[in-house]
Amino acid sequence: MPDTPASPSVPASEIERAVTLLKAGELVAFPTETVYGLGADAANPAAVAKIFAVKGRPADHPVIVHLPCSQSMEDWARDIPAVAWELAEYFWPGPLTLILKRQPYVPDAVTGGQDTVGLRVPGHPVALALLQAFSRAGGSGGVAGPSANRFGRISPTAASHVCDELGDRVAMVLDGGECPVGIESTIVDLSSGTPRLLRPGHIRPDQLEAVMGEPLALPAHLRNTEVPRVSGALAAHYAPRTHMTLVESAGLDVEIFRAGYQSMAVYAWSRSAPVELPANIIWVSAPTTPSAYAHELYAALRHLDELGVAQLLVESPPRGALWAAIHDRLDRAACGAGLGADQT
Ligand code: TXA
Ligand code: MG
Repeated sequence: MPDTPASPSVPASEIERAVTLLKAGELVAFPTETVYGLGADAANPAAVAKIFAVKGRPADHPVIVHLPCSQSMEDWARDIPAVAWELAEYFWPGPLTLILKRQPYVPDAVTGGQDTVGLRVPGHPVALALLQAFSRAGGSGGVAGPSANRFGRISPTAASHVCDELGDRVAMVLDGGECPVGIESTIVDLSSGTPRLLRPGHIRPDQLEAVMGEPLALPAHLRNTEVPRVSGALAAHYAPRTHMTLVESAGLDVEIFRAGYQSMAVYAWSRSAPVELPANIIWVSAPTTPSAYAHELYAALRHLDELGVAQLLVESPPRGALWAAIHDRLDRAACGAGLGADQT
């Protein structure tokens, strides 16, 4: 985890209110170390259905179940391989989601009708306090929680993002400050004999392999992190409304020139604003380390989107394993940008 200030805690009375709401089948948005989640009692299909209604998400998309501790894995998953316990021991609480075979009674609303379930113990003190209190109060111990944004749009990394986007559609938003990691958890599928990376994140493949003692199968687009990707090869996601283009550092000047007199915001990490910046260009400096870049990424995309410019130009960050999860998010954002929430 990146070095960040200790997360502000929330009063016990707020946690108790959140637990009462969860038990009553209401939605509670909560902070995690990655992004804010939109939580519902995972054992209550009607409550989980509300998540899909609020997000505008297709019903066959499974949601992650957040747990208070590793031992709870057995309540939700069966045939748990030894490697799952090893990964849980090493990385939980933390930004790792494990896909395992589900227990038969896990609601279809959670799994999207699949025979697997995604589980994680989040590493944020407020999330853990909520999950532990929910479990102690006789709740199911599992909180289903996708990112608390509308489907296809930018994930929230601050309570204000959730309020802006979902506002009065959730019963409560627990404010735990800014999410330290800033991008969603790494997802590893352990439901077949071959461990597979489904989504890159803060925890990298080499770190997972070191603990597993066996190779992790990578999706095709992540096998070579040195090569720029073909745009459009990925599903759109995490997208601003403004048209967004990703460009290698060497192409920045050409793209700025091509903007002509159109308004444009540039998000660049390798250099600061030129002294003579044309009036139609807004320059925003990006962080230069992977953890700081990830921490800021979604807030930056939201900010850029709110500037009201005709287009966004994002300088592609450096290549390499440390930046792979960031490239994944940027490529998807560029792919879906400008489409509007309904088409992503
Ligand atoms: O960091 C995170 O993972 C955040 C925080 C809130 O925990 N959650 C999050 O959830 O990103 P969501 O729903 O936005 O993304 C979860 C991803 C989806 O792409 C979903 O398809 C996948 O996890 N997923 C969940 N359960 C799955 C399953 N049983 N099999 C395959 N993929 C699954
Ligand atoms: Mg999401």
